[in-house]
Amino acid sequence: MGVLYTAVQHAHSGLRWVVLILLIAAIGRAASRRRTGVVYPGKDKLALFSLISVHIQLLLGLALFLWLSPYGITADPIEGGGSAVAKYYNYVHWWTMLIAVVLITVGYSKAKRQAELNKGWKTIGIYYLVGLLIILAGIPWPFYPGLESVGWG
Ligand code: HEM
Repeated sequence: MGVLYTAVQHAHSGLRWVVLILLIAAIGRAASRRRTGVVYPGKDKLALFSLISVHIQLLLGLALFLWLSPYGITADPIEGGGSAVAKYYNYVHWWTMLIAVVLITVGYSKAKRQAELNKGWKTIGIYYLVGLLIILAGIPWPFYPGLESVGWG
């Protein structure tokens, strides 16, 4: 279990950078395509890869939260136990990230149905941007008070 925990923790930690880069790239492309009047083709590779990356993050996160991590649900901070780190994961991290994943998923599937109206790029841009901002706020950055022990990568 120790090896699996370390592997999933590192994958989840490192994948954050992939998620952030793909989201920024997808938002940038949506903005420029919309500006130049390109019709949304019904699906966009960058938007799709960003969607897949946040879904993988969700699965890895669920495995950590429900099963592998000592800071997850088993830390039971509700009963008064648990460190600041455990409290952060139990009260902040999972639900902010879940909201972001839902928004990005809704944005992608809504845009798919708007291909002929040429609204798709705007929908991707807005939903992904809000999702990105929530993810940026929900990442356990080491400069958050109490989270100094959490790594960068
Ligand atoms: C796009 C979504 C997400 C991103 C970018 C993200 C990012 C991160 C990062 C950077 C860490 C710190 C890892 C480290 O260096 O120690 C972390 C830890 C963690 N995340 Fe997420 N996360 C996401 C979604 C989720 C979700 C949806 C859940 C739960 C359902 C979750 C559960 C956890 C848990 C339990 C830890 C603590 C792991 C440990 O150190 O034991 N994450 N996450």
